[in-house]
Amino acid sequence: MFKRWKNLRRRSSSKTEPQFPTVSLTNSMPAHVAIIMDGNGRWATKRGLPRTLGHREGVNKVREVTREAARLGIKVLTLYAFSTENWKRPEEEVGFLMNLLEESLNNEIEELHKNNVVVRVSGRIHELPSALREGFHGAEEKTRHNTGLILNIALNYGGRAEIVDAARRIAAMAREGKVAVEEIDEELFSRYLYTAGLPDPDLLIRPSGEMRLSNFLLWQSAYAELYMTPVLWPDFGPADLREAIQAFQKRQRRFGGLGV
Ligand code: IPE
Ligand code: IPE
Ligand code: MG
Repeated sequence: MFKRWKNLRRRSSSKTEPQFPTVSLTNSMPAHVAIIMDGNGRWATKRGLPRTLGHREGVNKVREVTREAARLGIKVLTLYAFSTENWKRPEEEVGFLMNLLEESLNNEIEELHKNNVVVRVSGRIHELPSALREGFHGAEEKTRHNTGLILNIALNYGGRAEIVDAARRIAAMAREGKVAVEEIDEELFSRYLYTAGLPDPDLLIRPSGEMRLSNFLLWQSAYAELYMTPVLWPDFGPADLREAIQAFQKRQRRFGGLGV
């Protein structure tokens, strides 16, 4: 997937695809970018195609956007691939998505590994079909010692489910006397989330024009900068990522304080 890494770098600064002038590897580069990959169905429907083709096209964008994120020096890219609520969809679509996820992982894992990407998965993974579950566990295992971009796939992910899962684990620890109730604070709680050890997202992008979080990273996004765009995910490319980052770089983050 990142095969011609150097060529790509060179090509992106050529005349055909000009380097985005204002995006540079500075301190204001978001460390963690999270994206709700939405709009696949509408992309296909608009073209008179079955929704499944929109999902397939969406996978190509995962590849392009991941490559661009790595090139820009982003540390963590979280991609919302399937929510705990997406099981409500017709069985056929859910089945297609599960197969597509498995197939895409199998197709990409070698290139991801070669390019030093760390694959992580966040969600109720134990509820997934076994081949997919094992595929992701294998990918995590294979890439765990890599040092490049962390690609965190939110799969069977729900922000509320995640908080409930953390609360259950902490309660079990408390019951066993392994943690004192007074010790439970935000820092400890964070360590029981699927995203333990990752920084909170700085920039949360939602394509497709919807103005909602749809249960994505509810805890972690407390102070994320939100960027909504009408572009549908299968049309969202590297230039759209750079545009979102450029908008992010113009924001003033205050975290409840007065800023500087
Ligand atoms: C996002 O695209 C993919 C998943 C939720 C799995 P959608 O399938 O939600 O596309 P729209 O929102 O119907 O256009
Ligand atoms: C959010 O999109 C989930 C993913 C992109 C994986 P949805 O399409 O499920 O969200 P709603 O239903 O429009 O809120
Ligand atoms: Mg949608």
